[in-house]
Amino acid sequence: MKFFVDTADTQEIRSLAATGLLDGVTTNPTLVAKSGRNMLDVIAEICDVVPGPVSAEVAATEYDHIMREAAVLRRIARNVTIKVPLTPDGLRACKALTSDGAMVNVTLCFSAAQAILAAKAGATFISPFVGRLDDIDHDGMELIADIVQIYSNYDNFRTEVLVASVRNPLHVTTAARLGAHVATLPPAVLRSLFNHPLTDKGLASFLADWAKTGQHIEDTKAGAATR
Ligand code: G3P
Repeated sequence: MKFFVDTADTQEIRSLAATGLLDGVTTNPTLVAKSGRNMLDVIAEICDVVPGPVSAEVAATEYDHIMREAAVLRRIARNVTIKVPLTPDGLRACKALTSDGAMVNVTLCFSAAQAILAAKAGATFISPFVGRLDDIDHDGMELIADIVQIYSNYDNFRTEVLVASVRNPLHVTTAARLGAHVATLPPAVLRSLFNHPLTDKGLASFLADWAKTGQHIEDTKAGAATR
């Protein structure tokens, strides 16, 4: 399973990239606005830090305009993934862009029928928003199960399921159990995956016992570890 981080905060991205666990980044207009920076600058910086797919969302809604914006975004770096809305014009642009070799992330997916359309349009990624569905009392994870199952029925559907609008670790583990290809996580959710109270407790007790031995693991003059 691939992990993307869902943020335009480059400090966070640098720090999470250092874990070696980051496969890509997703952004959206809200996240760019939150960064307070110029979009083209921020996407260029992210693409420098993370070699994997970096989603940059178009702001246009009409086909020709989407294509013009996509051309600007594609020039930033080879790993830019054009993010388009799940609309007729967005999917038309998706088809044209993927036919031309670009990666495309189709966003704002809330139904299995929409996900089928995106796969038919050749999307690289489909982004179903699980948290926003949960918010309106629909089971976001049921949608992931449906899409994963439907895509697996057709060899010609190469679109990866990118679970978006993730709110908690349970979304992540359920998505993994269902076989989703990617989850894009807010930084706090990604960091929370490391946490377990028994890990903290166990580490504290190992370190206390180790301190009692008075030993240090280090190279001696002879090059051997202290025994
Ligand atoms: O980037 C798309 C998605 O992850 C947004 O999440 O939390 O605004 O519903 P959220």
